[in-house]
Amino acid sequence: MKPGATLMKHYLQFKDLRAEEYAYLFERARIIKTRFKNYEKYQPLADRTLAMIFEKASTRTRVSFEAGMYQMGGSVVHLTTGDSQLGRAEPVEDSARVISRMCDLVMIRTYEQAKIAAFAAHSRVPVINGLTNEYHPCQILADILTYIEHRGSIQGKVVAWVGDGNNMANTWLQAAEILGFTVHVSTPGGYEVDPKVAGVSDAGCYRVFEDPMEACRGADLVTTDVWTSMGYEAENEARQKAFADWCVDAEMMAAAKPDALFMHCLPAHRGEEVAAEVIDGPQSVVWDEAENRLHAQKALMEYLLLGRIG
Ligand code: CP
Ligand code: NVA
Repeated sequence: MKPGATLMKHYLQFKDLRAEEYAYLFERARIIKTRFKNYEKYQPLADRTLAMIFEKASTRTRVSFEAGMYQMGGSVVHLTTGDSQLGRAEPVEDSARVISRMCDLVMIRTYEQAKIAAFAAHSRVPVINGLTNEYHPCQILADILTYIEHRGSIQGKVVAWVGDGNNMANTWLQAAEILGFTVHVSTPGGYEVDPKVAGVSDAGCYRVFEDPMEACRGADLVTTDVWTSMGYEAENEARQKAFADWCVDAEMMAAAKPDALFMHCLPAHRGEEVAAEVIDGPQSVVWDEAENRLHAQKALMEYLLLGRIG
């Protein structure tokens, strides 16, 4: 980024951008996607380098950021805890100072949000959250792009969240507050969303339901996620028992609007949080959702590095 060209922005939580910036990004993602589908070369990030730091496993996030950066003319450096000094207790602040003097953009997937916040505070370049225990903003960016493609604006709509009060649930709540829709949340007892952790101040952006079927009633979109997120594997056995009734099946989809969509950030466990007939059924848009990680993040990287185009 040229000094003083644009105020540097990080993307650490969904609420780091405003509604009108999202409107710009969704339109920009549409344009970038259309060009890509038409095999039109578009390389505004030539000579730019993205550092990707993974402290947890990934398929979609790695492929979408890596392919996206190459397609836009740039390059990537891939680091993991195991093969860098991050795994040998080099302070995150020092890693940030060094990596951000050599690269133009950093994407991090890690555990506590506090770690990515500390990295960003010592980074000279924009930092993107590729998933933390608390949030997964790039996924919701792609999910809402997918909703818009299929159904138009999400404003005023109802999204049913069935399952864990996790990073995805928190990010849906932030998105609801910013973009003006409502989340119907149903989690087992003990796995509720915490509005403080979610970082929402408007209690009107979500409603809590004990019964997942009630959360789905009349919803425009039904979505779920794994019962056990990365980092919580030790709780797996207890979670399998607690979440047994939080499986999105055909009956729950039938309670939603007839044209309701089904989304899942993937990876999915058929027979646990979602029935095969739902994720592989006609209302599911999970493959579009996964593909849109690529297009949405290309728009995001372009925005963070170059600002608004045109
Ligand atoms: N949805 C998602 O972030 O997938 P990965 O864990 O494969 O990156
Ligand atoms: N909630 C899941 C999402 C995986 C993309 C996790 O954090 O493991």
